[in-house]
Order: sequence, then C-alpha cells, then structure tokens
Amino acid sequence: MQNQLDQLAQEALSSLKETQNSAALTAWNQRYLGKKGALTQMLRSVGELPKEERPAFGRAANEVKIKLEAAYEAQEQVLHRAEMERELTAGGIDVTLPGRPVEPGHLHLTTQTLRQIYAIFAEMGFQIYESPEVETDETNFGLLNIPPHHPARDMWDTFWIDDEVLLRTHTSPGQIRVMREQHPNPIRVILPGKCYRYEQITARSEHHFYQVEGLAVGHHITMTDLIGTLTQFARRYYGPERQIRIRGSYFPFTEPSIEVDIDCILCEGQGCRVCKYSGWLEIAGAGMVHPVVLQNGGYDPDVWSGYAFGPGVERPAMLKHHIDDIRLFYGNDLRFLRQF
Ligand code: PHE
Repeated sequence: MQNQLDQLAQEALSSLKETQNSAALTAWNQRYLGKKGALTQMLRSVGELPKEERPAFGRAANEVKIKLEAAYEAQEQVLHRAEMERELTAGGIDVTLPGRPVEPGHLHLTTQTLRQIYAIFAEMGFQIYESPEVETDETNFGLLNIPPHHPARDMWDTFWIDDEVLLRTHTSPGQIRVMREQHPNPIRVILPGKCYRYEQITARSEHHFYQVEGLAVGHHITMTDLIGTLTQFARRYYGPERQIRIRGSYFPFTEPSIEVDIDCILCEGQGCRVCKYSGWLEIAGAGMVHPVVLQNGGYDPDVWSGYAFGPGVERPAMLKHHIDDIRLFYGNDLRFLRQF
C-alpha cells in the first residue's frame, strides 16, 4: 500500500506539470483529488488494512493529499499568469486605453438645503455650531426643563442606547452646550444636525431628519427680534412675497412659545391638500428661552434674555421642490437624487 501511495504521488506530480490549460488542470484535479479520484479511493481503502497499519498509512496518505493540493494551487497560479501574458502579447488588451469614467456625483438635496439655510443665517451674523447626535437624558430633556415623567416627553419618543444615553430628538440640547461654552458672552448661533424619533414612518415623517436650531442670547432680546429674524429667513428662503403668521404654542424650554407659519407656497394661501386647506404651512417652533434653561446654561435670567427656534430641513426642501414623500430623501434611489 505504501508503495502504491508513493507511486501515485509521483505520477500525480509529474502529470500536473504537463497540464497546459485550465481544462487539463480541472481534469487532473478530478483524476487524483476528486470524489472518485485515485487518492480519494486510496484513502477510503484504509479500512481494508490490518489494524496496526492503518494510522501510519492514513497519516502518509493525508500528507500526500496536502502536498498535491498545494501543487495544484501553485500550478493554477502559473497557468493564470501565463494566460495573462499570452493575452497581453496577443494585443487583445490595450492597457493604454482610458478607463471607464467615474461619474461625478453631487451634493445631496439635504446638504444643498442646509447650505442655503447657513448662507441666510450667516448674513444675519449667526455662527454655525455643531453638537452631538448622541445625547444624554439630561441634555436632551432634563436641562431643557423637561424633568422625568413630564408629559411633554410624549412628544419626543426616541431610540435609547441605555437608560441614560439616547439619540437626540431635536437639536435643542445644543442650546445648553453652546451656552455653557460661550458663557458669559452674547450668543448668536445656528446648530444644524440630524435628529431621531421613534415613530411610524410615513410620507410626512421619518425616524431621522434634520433640524437647524437657532439661539440668540444677549441683553434686551425680545420676541420682536425673533419674529423679525424668522420673517427674514422665510422671505429669503421661500420668496420675498411670503406672509408670516405667528400662533401661540407650548415648549417646555421656551416661554412664551410660538409656532411660525408661512402662507402656503403651493396654493398661495387659497387652501390645498398640502396645507390641509388652511392656507398656512408650519415652518418652525420657536420662543423666548425659558429662564430655567438660561440658568442651566449659566446665564442669569434677570440680566440676559434670548430666543430660540427650530425649523426642519427636509420640510422646506419638500415645499420648495414639490416633493410629496419624505422617505425619498434617504431611500438612496438615484432617479430621485439626480433631479436636484
Ligand atoms: N425642539 C423643538 C422641536 O423639536 C423645536 C423648538 C426649538 C421649539 C427651539 C422652540 C425653540 O420640536
């Protein structure tokens, strides 16, 4: 048996050298290593040997198998290289031809919209400030005057990382971060960024979206300043003819709180499906920074006052470009993205 094995190994190795193409190589593999190959059969016949000879033979046969497999792989490489050389010298491939062009992409609609918003606020003297997407219960809620068990938390269900850490539901926690960093200087910043909410995904709501928080803190800042700023923003973004409407609202971190609407840009205030036949579209929540929030940021509410606002980003883009489904933004469908 041992002799037979040695002979088989020798024969296999010398016939391997003669394989000149991949078909011959495959045939060789089948002949020796395949299911019905010579070596496979020899391995199978171990059982016929006397018991004491089996281990040594089995070991030897396995060694031959490993050797043949390695030789097979090496020959495969040799053939592959030879084939490439043949193709190159035969002139089949012109390596000097230019490659396939890489199609240049462009900025995502959300990024374009953000940049337009930055430009408008930059003209009004706002700096851009970034704050983290992963926040704590304390910064996202507590320091914004939303203690545990406050019913206002129902407005902002989110994704929790553990009992304390969460994906921010709005850009408002950035207010606390800027105040703590800028104290005791006056502040005029916008805080753009991604927010998350655990909610049903529909044509109108995604579980992640962008907001641009605005914050001004200074002396004698009033609601008039807030309304003036947002009116300017709306007219610069949506068009100079836009009308603004202010409604009373509620947010725990602003007092008083307002909701800002523009007359519907689609029906010019006549009433349509998009504005739910009211003639008005909501563009932002806003208000005067709550004294507790000012204090949490390190500013004495008796000396300082401020306003904050928080428009979305996809909504304005949807209105401007007549997009009727927010899910299109992050669906990665190039037919949609290429249009902007
Ligand atoms: N953070 C609020 C929201 O997500 C919006 C807002 C920002 C309201 C700033 C008032 C002041 O709905």
